[in-house]
Amino acid sequence: MRVPGGSLSGSPTVLEDPPEAERVLRVSGLKVHFGGVKAVDGLSFSVKRGEIVSMIGPNGAGKTSAFNCITGFYKPTEGRVTFKGRDITGFRPSRITKLGMSRTFQNLRLFQDLTVVDNVRTGEHTRVPENLLDTVLHTPRYRRQERRSLEAARGWLDFVGYREPEDAAVSALPYGERRRVEIARALAAEPELLLLDEPGAGLNHNEKADLLDLIRRIQALGVSIVLIEHDMGLVMEVSERVVVMNYGKEIADGTPDEVKADPDVIEAYLGTEDD
Ligand SMILES: Nc1ncnc2c1ncn2[C@@H]1O[C@H](COP(=O)(O)OP(=O)(O)OP(=O)(O)O)[C@@H](O)[C@H]1O
Ligand SMILES: [Mg+2]
Repeated sequence: MRVPGGSLSGSPTVLEDPPEAERVLRVSGLKVHFGGVKAVDGLSFSVKRGEIVSMIGPNGAGKTSAFNCITGFYKPTEGRVTFKGRDITGFRPSRITKLGMSRTFQNLRLFQDLTVVDNVRTGEHTRVPENLLDTVLHTPRYRRQERRSLEAARGWLDFVGYREPEDAAVSALPYGERRRVEIARALAAEPELLLLDEPGAGLNHNEKADLLDLIRRIQALGVSIVLIEHDMGLVMEVSERVVVMNYGKEIADGTPDEVKADPDVIEAYLGTEDD
């Protein structure tokens, strides 16, 4: 399908170091400590343009905390986050979204009182600067922007395979449809890098198959993806590389086959099953 709302390539970035140009994201020496809790305690990995990198690890390993640092929701205790060659460590989430990175949340953060289509549009509006006077006066420019925004939101709902009415209240939706809306909203920001925090959680078998297909279609748009996911079938199927965390530390980074055969990874997973 046509990409709603225009190009996903964003503005060109001049990078000095050619190898760096291939990397959309680089995380170096990332640490997030909460008092004595070392949620993330030394994480370094990078994502090449167009790549799907998964982040796995037992519950409490620090995966969501790492996402929160990368997307500006947490300030790292130490370390750096570089996006498209630019140091974005400590930037606010809205600024990071505008630069071309968006995310979904493990515990969905949709607006319960807004309709589905308006929820998706909250993603877009981070990119479309609103002129207050246009808004108040309902000028032709405002109406044009509104129409474009509505069309783009509908396009993304279609893209993620949303099947319910667009004016449904989020609170009335089945869980699987809410997850689709959450992804549509993140896509509405037209990201170059998309971070998905457990998009498969709570989904049934068919919905997971749809998710796998959706992730591939997002990649085909040229979007790089970091995926946190507990479903190993999905992770191994879709990822070019897998980063494994345990107790805040990175214990492996490799292809799905390398990671599956890694003794530290096997131990981390068997250890949690024994708990
Ligand atoms: N804001 C916070 N304040 C204090 N501790 C926190 C905070 N956020 C996360 N933690 C702690 O950091 C550790 C890592 O949590 P995090 O949510 O990042 O793990 P996770 O790998 O995403 O786990 P899950 O697979 O269960 O989602 C946990 O011990 C958690 O309690
Ligand atoms: Mg988490």
